[in-house]
Amino acid sequence: MRPEAIQIIKDEHLAISAVLYSLRYLVRAMKKGEKPNFPLLRAILDYIVSYPDRWHHPKEDKYLFAAVKRRTSEADGLIAKLEREHALGYPMMEDLKKQLVAFQAGDETAREAFFKTAEHYAELEWEHLRTEEDVFMPIAERVLTPADWAEIAEAFRENDNPLFGIKPKEEAETLYQRILSLAPPPMGFGAEAGR
Ligand SMILES: [Fe+2]
Ligand SMILES: [Fe+2]
Repeated sequence: MRPEAIQIIKDEHLAISAVLYSLRYLVRAMKKGEKPNFPLLRAILDYIVSYPDRWHHPKEDKYLFAAVKRRTSEADGLIAKLEREHALGYPMMEDLKKQLVAFQAGDETAREAFFKTAEHYAELEWEHLRTEEDVFMPIAERVLTPADWAEIAEAFRENDNPLFGIKPKEEAETLYQRILSLAPPPMGFGAEAGR
């Protein structure tokens, strides 16, 4: 049977991809002259900072990558690359948040910088998610034991754990629903499509 952790991670990747898609869609539309939807852009950045950056990537570093490193050294180079990409993404989000504020205040240079960083970020993250699923996961599936997978699933399920009053997945879901509610229909991003 396929480990539950893989399904959880793939589901999270799917949600992250949908948000990246909407970010890139909006940037391209604005480049063609569409009026910026600042609340939607803000909601997208909030989502990325609150969920993938705070919960998804750190859990991969701490549990998934660590478990594979314990079982084999064959993926060391790949893991180092994936960890570097996580680290690269965090300051890019900080840049994007600052650029968005300046863009909204009417700064032309910040507008261009925001477009460039957003497209670069979306590309980088997509490539990253694909590498994790296509290259890293098959190695993990081969070397990890059912006990390893159970530990990883438990760590990822914690994202849902109301213990200590935190419910990151619920918070992420709320932010996600906000993105959907703000997104205009041409994005093909209706409430149904987001489920
Ligand atoms: Fe990752
Ligand atoms: Fe990931």
